[in-house]
Amino acid sequence: MSGLLEVAGLQKRFGAIVVADDVTFSLDSGHCLGMIGPNGAGKSSVFNLIAGTIAPDGGTIRFEGQELGRLPPHLRARRGIVRAFQIPQPFPHLTVYENVLAAASFGAGRSGAGAATAALDVLATMGLAAKAGVLAGQLPLLDRKRLELGKAVASCAKVLLLDEIAAGLTEPEVEELVALVRNLKTSHAIIWIEHIPHALRAVADRIMVLHFGRNVLEGRPADVMTSRLVREIYMGFRADDVA
Ligand SMILES: Nc1ncnc2c1ncn2[C@@H]1O[C@H](COP(=O)(O)OP(=O)(O)OP(=O)(O)O)[C@@H](O)[C@H]1O
Ligand SMILES: [Mg+2]
Repeated sequence: MSGLLEVAGLQKRFGAIVVADDVTFSLDSGHCLGMIGPNGAGKSSVFNLIAGTIAPDGGTIRFEGQELGRLPPHLRARRGIVRAFQIPQPFPHLTVYENVLAAASFGAGRSGAGAATAALDVLATMGLAAKAGVLAGQLPLLDRKRLELGKAVASCAKVLLLDEIAAGLTEPEVEELVALVRNLKTSHAIIWIEHIPHALRAVADRIMVLHFGRNVLEGRPADVMTSRLVREIYMGFRADDVA
C-alpha cells in the first residue's frame, strides 16, 4: 500500500553531524505522525528535506506517487507540502483576512471571488472570523498560530509540517491548539514535531523517535511515550540503572 507521502532511506549529513540516517516512513491523509527526539536530533532537518530547502545525500521522497527529486521548495508547496513554524511570520501590516487571502491567491493559485470565498472559509475554520480586519502584527500569540495554520490551509496544503507550533503557549492555549490540529487532521496528513507530550498524544496516531538522525522507535503514542528507550534518550541514562 502506498501513502500520500512516502519517505524511504533518507540520508543527510552536515560534515560529521548526521541528521537523517535511513529515515523511512509513510503517511496518509487523515493521519498524524508525531516526531520527537532530543535537541539537534535532526527533526527540523527532516522537514527541510521534505520541503526541499536542503537536498538529501540519499533516499527518496514520493508524494502522491511521484518522486520529488530536486523539485524546488515553492513547487513542493504548490503541490501541497506546507510548513508551519514555531515563530509565525505573517505580513504584520496586512489584516488577518489579507494574509489568508494572499495564501489563497498566491499559494493556491486562486483569484477573484474564489480566493475571497476560500479565505473566508479558512477564517471561520480557524476561529478567526471576528478578527478578519485586525492587523496581523497586533494579534496575540495563539491567534498568530491560528493564522499561521490558516495560511497553510488556504494555500491548499495536503501535508502539514508543524514544527513546534505549541511553543510559547499557556496550557489552556495548548488545549485550543490541539483541538485545531485535530480538526485539521480530518482533511490533511500531518507531521507534528512537538516537545509537549500530551499534545502529541492527543493528536498523533503514531510517534517516531529520532536520535542522531535515526528513527530508533516508531509506534502508538502511549507505547512510545512510556518506553524505556525514550526515557533513556531524554534523561541520558539507562533505564536499568534506576529500575
Ligand atoms: N544547514 C545546516 N548546516 C549545518 N548544520 C546544520 C544545518 N542544519 C542543521 N544543522 C545541524 O544539524 C543538527 C540537527 O539540527 P535540527 O535543527 O534538524 O535538529 P532538531 O532535532 O530540529 O533540534 P531542535 O529540537 O533543537 O529543534 C544540529 O546539530 C544543527 O546544528
Ligand atoms: Mg527543530
